[in-house]
Amino acid sequence: MIRPHDETSIRAGGLVARIKRRHLLRMGFLGGTLLAVGELTAILLPFLWVNKITGLGAKVAVGKKSDILSKFQATNDEPQLYTAAKFFLIHAPGAVAAAYRRCTHLGCSVPWTPSEDQFHCPCHGSLFHKNTAVVLGGPAPRPLDLFHVTEDAGGTITVDTNPLNLITRQGSEWDEAWTEVRDS
Ligand code: FES
Repeated sequence: MIRPHDETSIRAGGLVARIKRRHLLRMGFLGGTLLAVGELTAILLPFLWVNKITGLGAKVAVGKKSDILSKFQATNDEPQLYTAAKFFLIHAPGAVAAAYRRCTHLGCSVPWTPSEDQFHCPCHGSLFHKNTAVVLGGPAPRPLDLFHVTEDAGGTITVDTNPLNLITRQGSEWDEAWTEVRDS
């Protein structure tokens, strides 16, 4: 003979099942929310992170002025290239300066050409003076631009390679007004 279920125990079992289902739903919702927040954070984090600039645009400490001048003296004033930040340190008359190596004609990277003792743009042949980076020949309309340079109390020189803050020049002679770090 089949015994009929006790009405109270059936109701109690249903209640337990409902509570379990609700708990599971709540856990699922919480898990889904945490997952969504995690994904959103992963997407947004790179935009919030401030990256350290290391190449063009950075402030580049190039060392002690005394060491830089010694190197100029030992190499007959050969310009000193900083490839990543796209400039040459040049030994201007009585001063250390930094020339942006972007050609003022159409923007090619200008190399130093030791065999000619001058800068020689490979694109259309513009020539620039090794000490002042003024135009010696070719189609370039003006000297290479200069970056601002500073010297701290300890004698370390820093070049600010912000391309939006250049010293733009005209003429074919070094102008004292462009001097920022003197030899002495
Ligand atoms: S880009 Fe240098 S000469 Fe034309």
